[in-house]
Amino acid sequence: MAVLVTGGAGYIGSHTAVALHESGREVVLIDNFNNSSPAAVEAIRSLTTPDLVCVEADLRDRGQLNAVFEAHDIDEVVHFAAHKAVGESIAIPLEYYGNNLGSTIAVAETMVEHGVRKLVFSSSCTVYGQPDAIPVTERAPTGAESPYGQTKHMSEQILRDVAEAADLDVALLRYFNPVGAHESGAIGEDPNGIPDNLVPFVMQVAVGRLKKLGVFGDDYDTPDGTCIRDYIHVVDLAEGHVSALEALDAKLRGACTAVNLGTGVGSSVLEVVAAAEAAVGEPIAYEIVDRRPGDVAQIYADPAYAEEVLGWRSQRNLAEMMRDHWNWQSNNPNGFAD
Ligand code: UD1
Repeated sequence: MAVLVTGGAGYIGSHTAVALHESGREVVLIDNFNNSSPAAVEAIRSLTTPDLVCVEADLRDRGQLNAVFEAHDIDEVVHFAAHKAVGESIAIPLEYYGNNLGSTIAVAETMVEHGVRKLVFSSSCTVYGQPDAIPVTERAPTGAESPYGQTKHMSEQILRDVAEAADLDVALLRYFNPVGAHESGAIGEDPNGIPDNLVPFVMQVAVGRLKKLGVFGDDYDTPDGTCIRDYIHVVDLAEGHVSALEALDAKLRGACTAVNLGTGVGSSVLEVVAAAEAAVGEPIAYEIVDRRPGDVAQIYADPAYAEEVLGWRSQRNLAEMMRDHWNWQSNNPNGFAD
């Protein structure tokens, strides 16, 4: 029996592949390397086993996907593969809808054809849009704003319908803000071009690739005026996927269930900068700039339901997230290109 990890060479996929291997599973990766690197697969192998299988394919290529299910005894799937840049999704929505929804449909259809029951889907707190109450519980209203967010929201709906019709058991994991890296420094986040997200940007300033961070607004209704998010260590997040697969045989059996993966702790942009400075041991150059359209002042998870149904809670704090992210970035200033 093996677990298939789609988008297995990506940031969260690679960390999850390692955690799944450590749980004793045989792991098969599939990735089209659209926004990831074959070097990530080599790094995963160095942390797991040299013969870990990775198939290079687009999920929408049914022939290849089918062949993977046939060649390996797949009995669980963790589906990450997707485009994920909010701004880009506004510029090229059809590419996002086509790729992200097409991939989800192909995965679900192939699972049904092969009688595979257990699926963990990579969703996002972006499905809560502008939440009206924090901490956010899974019962909060959903409705995403960007085309990217819509693809996560719609994929959740598609999987809910398929679960009902075809008896799939599904965990929809809604991530808050994943940061950090594996403590070995062998794998980590390697964004294409200039990072959109805060922590990769801060770390590229620290390593000298970028000059200065722009802090998007300091006039929000928060204690220091900068936005508050729930940053979660990517290894905690990865372990949450292992717990979710196990819960599909226990508390989550027979249903399609949304679960937040967050810490429940909010940190402001300036708190993240200070934690990064402590990890790096040097000041990070920044200036306050205009607000970024679409940003919410404050969002963090209520992690209670994850603990109840998955028996999982995050273990690593902001200092550890920054230490491990810096370890990865300082050892690999140019990511997997190094
Ligand atoms: C963003 C996406 C979200 C996606 C998530 C993935 C938007 C509106 N949302 O969330 O859909 O799931 O990334 O991790 O893009 N910040 C700066 N300067 C920067 C970059 C960010 O001040 O150069 C601030 C932002 O204003 C925000 C915080 O840092 O308050 C975190 O930003 P980011 O890492 O982009 O994550 P989100 O916006 O929370």
